Amino acid sequence: MRLLVLGGTAMLGRAVAAEAVARGHDVTCLARGVSGDAPDGVRWVRGDRDLADGLAAVTGPEDQWDAVVDVSRQPGQVRRAMAALEPLARHLVFVSTGNVYAVHAGLATDESVPLLPPLEGEVMEDMSTYGEAKVACEAAVLEAFGTDRALIARAGLIGGPGDASGRSGWWPWRFAHPAGGPDGPVLVPDDPELPMSIIDVRDLAAWLVRCTEARTAGVFDAVGQPDTLGGLISAAREVAGHDGPVVAASPAWLLEQGVQEWMGEDSLPLWIADPEWRGFGAHTGAAARAAGLTTRPVTETFRDAAAYEEAREATDPRRCGLTDDTERRLLDLLGS
Ligand SMILES: NC(=O)c1ccc[n+]([C@@H]2O[C@H](COP(=O)([O-])OP(=O)(O)OC[C@H]3O[C@@H](n4cnc5c(N)ncnc54)[C@H](OP(=O)(O)O)[C@@H]3O)[C@@H](O)[C@H]2O)c1
Repeated sequence: MRLLVLGGTAMLGRAVAAEAVARGHDVTCLARGVSGDAPDGVRWVRGDRDLADGLAAVTGPEDQWDAVVDVSRQPGQVRRAMAALEPLARHLVFVSTGNVYAVHAGLATDESVPLLPPLEGEVMEDMSTYGEAKVACEAAVLEAFGTDRALIARAGLIGGPGDASGRSGWWPWRFAHPAGGPDGPVLVPDDPELPMSIIDVRDLAAWLVRCTEARTAGVFDAVGQPDTLGGLISAAREVAGHDGPVVAASPAWLLEQGVQEWMGEDSLPLWIADPEWRGFGAHTGAAARAAGLTTRPVTETFRDAAAYEEAREATDPRRCGLTDDTERRLLDLLGS
């Protein structure tokens, strides 16, 4: 199969390209090289999709693609790609996100949740309109390729090795390195029933490649095995072999102390307090599983995300979680 990956230099696109090479396909990646390198074994074409002719090197008259995988979040990039590639490609896989949904309050939800309005214009200026931008991208894909030649994969939280956001690595890393020393107490949100899941980047990549081979079409939530925050934190603790105390603090208290939800500086990752977002991790992914998505135990994802965190520690500051000083201060306030 001749596969074109628009991307291929960052976490997921790279994993898709590597998986496709491992399965014996002829893979071309197009990216600038700002995010990293393309994996070994691919033909890497450097191109800038913000330029009108940025895809010229992969859309010549001799270029025919069995499938194209696109990970962009910019509506203009996707519109230009669809116009140029529709005559040349049999099948299009677009990686979207659960952020396209207008409502995140439900439990055990699926692809029928209403979408945000599409972003107007060509460029998403910042992440505050990420969901709207992806809705516009999805619409451009479906308009060009139709529902029988396109697969839209609405990914949930993607974790595992290469997760530069640090969200999937935080908990196993923290349990391995408590702020107060080995087997010291670890602060967790007292919110164990919050629905949450993580899809391993390697499982998502493998499924997407199998979908290009089978030309699977449709719109799918591509998420990990449904779990809870409590379940995930327990799995991370098991992976780290932590035997010390686990100190659960109420969400209201954590917010009062300035602890952020989900990600970023001074955060407790994977935790969502905002009632309007608490269903973000509640999509079941049943349709994708029926279409062949298989996922490994989350303990494997945590083990390898933690190894990635350990390896990058010296040069690359952690992008989420609490500093040791902050966590010790909060544990002191709680008398732990
Ligand atoms: N991380 C999560 O938890 C999560 C959750 C839900 C959905 N998603 C979605 O999953 C996908 C993740 O994909 P990813 O990890 O491969 O990529 P990514 O981090 O979104 O990176 C974008 C890719 O596009 C390339 N790119 C960006 N601007 C470009 C330009 N102007 N011209 C050419 N190429 C350009 C980048 O390469 P260069 O910079 O090298 O050009 C990179 O390979 C995205 O679609 C994301 O929206 C992620």
